[in-house]
Amino acid sequence: MPRKHIVGGNWKMNTSREEAKTLAGALKDKIGGVTDTDVVLCPPFVYLTDVAEAIAGSNLQLGAQDVYFEDNGAFTGEISTAMLKDVCCQWAIIGHSERRHVIGETDETINKKVLKSLNDGLKVILAVGELLEQREAGTTKKVVESQVKVGLEGVEKAKMGDVVLAYEPVWAIGTGKTASPEQAEEVHAMIRALLGELYDGDVAEATRIQYGGSVKPNNAADLFAREDIDGGLIGGASLKPDDFTAIVNA
Ligand code: PGA
Repeated sequence: MPRKHIVGGNWKMNTSREEAKTLAGALKDKIGGVTDTDVVLCPPFVYLTDVAEAIAGSNLQLGAQDVYFEDNGAFTGEISTAMLKDVCCQWAIIGHSERRHVIGETDETINKKVLKSLNDGLKVILAVGELLEQREAGTTKKVVESQVKVGLEGVEKAKMGDVVLAYEPVWAIGTGKTASPEQAEEVHAMIRALLGELYDGDVAEATRIQYGGSVKPNNAADLFAREDIDGGLIGGASLKPDDFTAIVNA
């Protein structure tokens, strides 16, 4: 069975409240009726409610850019799974490279977030990807395999339907340097093979793997046409309604 493509818009720490509402409203008008692709908008936490209202009644889905692994308590600044579900969030991005490399999150923390989210009924976009120096040193496979393995540790096969992986080479994020479709496909195929080892052929076949890193309207179709690339996680271009629409339509 062909995998349904999934495109996420990771707005990162961008937009004002008004801009978030306007962007979400514009996307509802343009692609709110989309059925052949899952589209997930991930605004900053504080605008989740506004965006939920703006996209209500459409097929657009709502995601957070992160989540914490405790239920509640003295965790200043953190947001729980229950809070996200309270504001109609269905998805959480976990392990984005900026969380790993700017904020300093470890694979172990990321794994706790993945387990907690799945346990509490949130769907997960688990992001992985190598740094430029790791690619140049020839360790891409090792790095990505380890991120996937540790990130998914303890995740049961039955929960894998709620997991999407996002391969995002760090050197391609926000740099305008996209991985070539061949470079991306090579890593995607490797991740799919690893899922076969960790789970089985059915999970490997069914799990969606997005590509992220400077996806734009002019390169999306080429990337998404590859066998193991099932959509994208979009940063910069997700803030421009026309560009994001073109990428979803690709
Ligand atoms: P970019 O970001 O599209 O701006 O490169 C992608 C991401 O960080 O998910």
